[in-house]
Amino acid sequence: MSENQRTIEIEVLRYHPEKDQVPYQQVFQVPFTDDMSVLQGVQYIKDYLDGSLSFRWSCRMAICGSCGMMIN
Ligand code: FES
Repeated sequence: MSENQRTIEIEVLRYHPEKDQVPYQQVFQVPFTDDMSVLQGVQYIKDYLDGSLSFRWSCRMAICGSCGMMIN
């Protein structure tokens, strides 16, 4: 990540029932561009920051609804 690249904070509610007693918030710094989607942001987290992050998606074309998330 270059020094002048813009980043956004993505705060994710995490919960692993076998390890965690309660859900907790985890914050990630994610580089972004103006044409980026939230799905691309969470994919960045999974690919580069924390491979244990899990979420659903399928078509990436606003057809199937698999990527529905509660945001803010
Ligand atoms: S992955 Fe988002 S609508 Fe299909």
